[in-house]
Formats: sequence, structure tokens, C-alpha cells
Amino acid sequence: MATDPPLALLQSRVLLALLAISSLVLQTVALAQAQAVSLEEASAHELQLAFRQNKLTSRQLTNFYLNRIRRLNPLLRGVIEVNPDALRQADRADRERKAKPHGSLSALHGIPILLKDNIATKDKMNTTAGSFALLRSVVPRDAGVVARLRRAGAVLLGKASLSEWSHYRFSSDHSGWCARSGQGKNPYNLSATPCGSSSGSAISMAANMGAVSLGTETDGSILCPSSSNSVVGIKPTLGLTSRGGVIPITPRQDTVGPMCRTVADAVNVLDVIVGFDPYDDKATREASKYIPRGGYKQFLKVDGLKGKRLGIVKPFFDSYSGTPVAKAFESHFNTLRKQGAVLVDRLDLADFRKIYSDSSEGVAMSAEFKLALNTYLRDLVVSPVRSLADVIAFNNKHKHVEKTDEYGQAFFIAAEATNGIDKTVKSALQNMTRLSRDGFEKLMRQNKLDALVTPESTVTLALAIGGFPGISVPAGYDEDGVPYGICFGGLRGSEPTLIEIAYGFEQATKIRRPPSFLR
Ligand SMILES: *[C@@H]1O[C@H](CO)[C@@H](O)[C@H](O)[C@H]1NC(C)=O
Ligand SMILES: *[C@@H]1O[C@H](CO)[C@@H](O)[C@H](O)[C@H]1NC(C)=O
Ligand SMILES: *[C@@H]1O[C@H](CO)[C@@H](O)[C@H](O)[C@H]1NC(C)=O
Repeated sequence: MATDPPLALLQSRVLLALLAISSLVLQTVALAQAQAVSLEEASAHELQLAFRQNKLTSRQLTNFYLNRIRRLNPLLRGVIEVNPDALRQADRADRERKAKPHGSLSALHGIPILLKDNIATKDKMNTTAGSFALLRSVVPRDAGVVARLRRAGAVLLGKASLSEWSHYRFSSDHSGWCARSGQGKNPYNLSATPCGSSSGSAISMAANMGAVSLGTETDGSILCPSSSNSVVGIKPTLGLTSRGGVIPITPRQDTVGPMCRTVADAVNVLDVIVGFDPYDDKATREASKYIPRGGYKQFLKVDGLKGKRLGIVKPFFDSYSGTPVAKAFESHFNTLRKQGAVLVDRLDLADFRKIYSDSSEGVAMSAEFKLALNTYLRDLVVSPVRSLADVIAFNNKHKHVEKTDEYGQAFFIAAEATNGIDKTVKSALQNMTRLSRDGFEKLMRQNKLDALVTPESTVTLALAIGGFPGISVPAGYDEDGVPYGICFGGLRGSEPTLIEIAYGFEQATKIRRPPSFLR
């Protein structure tokens, strides 16, 4: 049966006309609601493009995030404070963009960033590690990484919440809780843990309450929340990023790193924050040698997995056996192979396992924390507390707001009882050096591995005690809708390789999606 051509033609004309009208309407709506529609999930690169094409200003973008924080943060509690000067900084970025030649501005110019609340800013914001004890303390200067962000023209949007004192007050229950903003929530499933301690940075990135963010890690605090909230986290080599002006746990393991929605965003942030800082001179000078000429962006290669040797340590995956997550990882292994990686899965584990049955980290950390925190508190210009002993007393006095009876402060009390770097601590330090050398390092070198592949944050201890880098990339969602990540860990200074691997995996899988219930 023949159709009537004139009618079909007519219909298609009407359709075209309708399409034209609706696209006009859509454009108008898009202009009116640019913020509500297209800024969600936008990468720093896309935002820069929109800036340049005059489709967006940094002020509009900053307002978009401020509105989202207003709307979502009462539920998610990923942010403790917003910066009263954020819009002013955005305006300045908008002015500078007009005045300066295209191409001369950093990838973060005009881009709003959230900072974990243990990273000092010398401005109207407080720096408290989530505790009321440090409210109204005055820091001597911006943290080293913050000084770099300001120079790059980034908009300091606010302070992200965290497990209080970067999770060195109480045990790993109560992850994501701090007195100043309460319990941070996993936006994918409000009854699941967001993990910590950089919980707020991860929550905020997942829920689009900022463009990019910084977290810190001593043992798992970037990699775990990144995994649990479907974002990308880079835990850099020790000293690659300055810890100057960061409320410490231990300078032997602390590191500052990006937490973002994509590998490319995280790499853009990394490029801005790495480098020497006189306030963390020894470690940042030592690690400067790892910074590649031309920065890290050049390693965002779609075929980055080609020829890479990746170690799979089976026991790390044991606890998933028989679950859909295990199946998903099997499929990821196939993807890695298909993208040209060589998977090495018959690894000798004897020495590596010892790392996980040793308690040296806890012994050393306790003594180091007391020394490092006391130094930080002493250097403050103004502070209600000047020592760990003061903080313990504060928590006892303000039991109600600090939930001291309920959550305790066991790590604080143990640390206060330590007495410097004594014989026991020295033995613990030697043990860790040996365990790292005979464990992770040996495993990597003997098998000529580019990275070790592990699920979620299972490998963090090995990375922590050696000052090694790791990158977590979204890898899936479990039966409860809770995200999990895949982690690529390597030897010191291996960021270029890890970025190639992480980007190759991300581009081949594209697993991240925003939490659905927030729409
Ligand atoms: C810092 O804390 C003080 C004391 O609570 C408060 O008045 C001030 O608003 C805080 N700063 C910001 C930016 O929220
Ligand atoms: C260091 O290792 C030795 C030998 O394994 C052990 O006896 C000692 O208890 C360890 N030290 C600490 C602080 O864990
Ligand atoms: C969230 O997780 C809980 C288990 O902790 C589960 O019972 C619930 O169904 C999950 N919610 C969603 C939306 O998946």
C-alpha cells in the first residue's frame, strides 16, 4: 500500500517547523536556566570553553554552586562553610579573562573549588578540621596549595566537611561526621557511609556542589571516599604537593590531592597544586624531581593502557567472590586487556601480606601526631587551643557539641600519652621501611609492574607507609546503589603512568553517573 507522498512531506515540514520552534524555545529555556540544565557534570575544560565563548561567567557558575549548596547541603552536609568572598573572586576572574590574552590563563582560572576543612585559608573562612575547638583560630598564612590556587585564579568556594580531625580522633565508625556540620551523607544511598576522612570533598563532587575539590590522605582518606561516592581521587606521592598549612596527622604520610568527577579535572588540579613550598621544604624539594616538564595533562591519553603491566593481587578481591561486584571486576580486567594492558596475576604475596598484619603504622602515627599537631597549633596567630592536651580538654568541656561521650577521643588520648620518637617508635619506623621495601616495592620491581590494581581502598596501607601514589576511578554501583572504585597504585613519582592508566580505564568504561534521587 502506497502512502500519500504529499501528506508525508507535509507532515515532515510541519515536524521540521515544530522542531525549529521547539529548538528556539529550548534555547531560550537553556539561556534562562543555563544553570539548572547544563552545568551539572560539566568538566573544567567545558567550563573554560563556555567562559571563552561568552556563554557563561565565573559569577554565574559560582552562583550555580552556591544555590546547589543551599538546596542540597542541609541533607548531604558535604560543606561546612561557603566563602563570603567567592562571588568577588569570580568577578575578578571575569574581569581578568577580558583583559588577558586567550591561552595565558590557568585551567582553573575562574573555576570554583572546595577545600577540605583541614587546609588553611587566610581569609574570612575558618580552618578547623571540623572541630569547634579551632573555630576562630587565625592561621598565619594560606596553605601552600591554596597559595597556588589563588595564583591560578581559582575561586575558593568553601570548606568541605570531613571525618573530624581527618579521622584521628575516634575509630572508623562515624566516618564523615564532624561537630561543625554533622553527619555527611552518601548521595547515592543516604544510609550508606560516605567513607572518610575527605568525605565532604567526595560528597560535594558527587552531588555537583562545586567544580573541583581538594582532599587529604594519610591512609585512605582520599581513595576511600572517592571510591564510595563515584568520583576520581588522586593521592599523590608524598611531598609532591605541599602540606604546609594543613592540619596534620603525620608529615611522614600526609598528602594533599584532587578529588573531582573526572580524571582530566583531577589532573588539571594536580598541575596547579604540585611543587616546592618553603613551608614544607624538605619533602617538596625532594619530590620536585618527579614533576614532568609540561605538567601532567600530556598523560591524558585515550590509549594510555597500551603496553602497561598491571598487577592483580587476587586476595584483595576475595571478599567480593560470588557477588555482582566480583563479576564487574572480571569484566574490567577484560576491558584492561582489550585496551592493551598486560595483566600479571600470579604474584608472590608472602612479604606483601606482612604489611597488613603489622601494627607499626599505628605506633608511629600516634607519637608523630602529637608532635605535628602541637607544632601546627603553636604556629597559629590566634587560637583557643595551643596543644593536643588543650583539644582533649576542650572536647571534655564541650561534650554535647563534640559528642565526646558517644564518639570518644581514643586516638587523642593515646597520642597524648606518647613521648616523642622513642625506641619503640624508631623500631616501628624501621619496620615500615623494611615492610615497604620487601613488600610493595619488591612486588612492583620484580614483576616490572606499572601499577597494582585493587578494589576500593583495600591497598591504602601499602601506599601510605611508602609515600606511594594511587588513583581511584569509578568502577560500578553495588546492589544498594552504592558506588565502588578501582584503584591503580604505583611507586613514588609514577603519577604520569598512573594517569595514563586511569584515563585509559575511565575513557573505556565511563562509569560515573550523578546520584539520581537529587534531580
Ligand atoms: C567562621 O566562624 C565564625 C564563628 O562562628 C563565624 O562567625 C564566621 O561566619 C565563620 N566564617 C564563615 C566564612 O562561615
Ligand atoms: C618491629 O618488628 C619486629 C620484628 O618483626 C617486632 O618484634 C617489633 O615488635 C616491631 N615493632 C613494632 C613497633 O611494631
Ligand atoms: C540503600 O542501602 C540499604 C542497605 O544499607 C538498602 O536496604 C536500600 O535498599 C538502599 N537504597 C537504595 C535506594 O538502593
